[in-house]
Amino acid sequence: MSIKTAVLNGVATIEIARPEKKNALTVAMYQAMTDALVSAKADNAVRAVLITGQPGIFTSGNDIEDFMSRPPGQGSDGNDSPVFKFMRALLDCDKPVVAAVTGGAIGIGTTLLLHCDFVYVSDEARLAMPFVSLGLVPEFASSLVVPQLMGHRRAAEKLLLGEAFTPEQAVECGIANAVLPAAEVVNHARRIAERFNQLPPGAVREAKQLMHAPQRELMLQVIRTEGELFAKRLRSPEAMEAFQAFFQKRKPDFSKF
Ligand code: COA
Repeated sequence: MSIKTAVLNGVATIEIARPEKKNALTVAMYQAMTDALVSAKADNAVRAVLITGQPGIFTSGNDIEDFMSRPPGQGSDGNDSPVFKFMRALLDCDKPVVAAVTGGAIGIGTTLLLHCDFVYVSDEARLAMPFVSLGLVPEFASSLVVPQLMGHRRAAEKLLLGEAFTPEQAVECGIANAVLPAAEVVNHARRIAERFNQLPPGAVREAKQLMHAPQRELMLQVIRTEGELFAKRLRSPEAMEAFQAFFQKRKPDFSKF
């Protein structure tokens, strides 16, 4: 099993655990994370959710082999596939979600952070959204939220050039709360999550809903629009070249397009 879940001391933990593939997320893993989020929302004993990875890697994003063999959205607009269900479950989670970014966070590894309430990043982490480099387009409302957070120019570095950024830059541009030594990031995030055991859950829930309400419909609309384009792009010759290059461990050649 590559997603480990546990509920302990009021915190539902979702641990991404597939280190041999750099925690790349498969369809089954999205489903397991969705189930965990839905259970956490329904369980009165859960006061907060903690999402974490493995030492040195949070997640390398969507499994690229899955992209090639089982692209989301085949035969539909893609919004019902496991990855979109996961996105929806994270948006719908009305309990605080805390992320401990234990290492590299790529693609959805970074965009999921945009929908967490607290983000703590290891000093060894690197974040990147290399969608365009893969022949794809931004997802999980990152085309909306990233420019809002850091302005168009810096967002263009991250979303068009796919430039990686440091934990300090993630804090500076508002994606993360703080940088922690690698050995401390999970415990720190857990302590933040456990603070909700001392707070009134109804007020926390309603406050979180209020913070999300003004943008919620827009966010869902953007996720749908991005998703439709993303699903088409997954089948594009540009994306095929990028995926093949990844597995052949070479640089992609986009000169023919
Ligand atoms: N999907 C599928 N397999 C992946 C993967 C992914 N997203 N990321 C890593 N892997 C696999 C590699 O193919 C490799 O498998 P192998 O041992 O069978 O050859 C294994 O995980 C280790 O990865 P490797 O690239 O050798 O590790 P690294 O330490 O040199 O680099 C990363 C780590 C995360 C920087 C690099 O793997 C990477 O860039 N991954 C792809 C990230 C990406 O583009 N994600 C999609 C965003 S939409």
